[in-house]
Amino acid sequence: MDLRYIGHSAFEIKLANNSVLIDPYVKVNPDYNWHESNITDIFVTHAHGDHLGQAIEIAKEKDATITAIVELAQYCKEQGCKVRSVNFGGWINYEWGRVVFVPAYHTSALPDGRYAGTAAGIIIDAENVRVYHAGDTALTGEMKTIKELYRPNIALLPIGGNYTMDVEHAAIAADWIGAQTVIPMHYNTFPEIQADLEKFAQLLQFNNSTCVILDPKKN
Ligand code: NI
Ligand code: MN
Repeated sequence: MDLRYIGHSAFEIKLANNSVLIDPYVKVNPDYNWHESNITDIFVTHAHGDHLGQAIEIAKEKDATITAIVELAQYCKEQGCKVRSVNFGGWINYEWGRVVFVPAYHTSALPDGRYAGTAAGIIIDAENVRVYHAGDTALTGEMKTIKELYRPNIALLPIGGNYTMDVEHAAIAADWIGAQTVIPMHYNTFPEIQADLEKFAQLLQFNNSTCVILDPKKN
């Protein structure tokens, strides 16, 4: 598995035979060329524009499937995309691995203002690695059950504050989740989500996790 940070909360997970995207707000990174990747699946944590991003356009060009919570999946279907409509609960199987949607403490509305279901986090289990993408979320006690139930190896956590956890809460989340590797996301894209990365890395030293800061320009 090769994890590439596109920027904001967007990641590409490159697997042996295909790629999957999470929250593909790809326009934040003009250097990222999704046309070259064999994208089979797109996961969207919630409907806000900085997460749904260019999912519809990419899914159509790549003939990829969008997996999302029922209400958001219905919207993507109406836009002409192939979808897998899911909710919280059990593992969902794919040819390349499996995925489970977990609660996030956040809101979710469509571009036209319609209710888009509950915001989610996503755990992807592929090639013997478990990646937890927390989506947009506040710190919530649910994160303790994520450790207990899923034991992710890598946690992608929002740290920018204002709409999500800030660095202090994200460090507590990292401890609760118990992942060995923590990758910060959802910071510095907008003026109101500026974050102190050095402070975050320092706070994580109190846990048994390592902070890995990925530069979207360098991978
Ligand atoms: Ni949001
Ligand atoms: Mn967001």
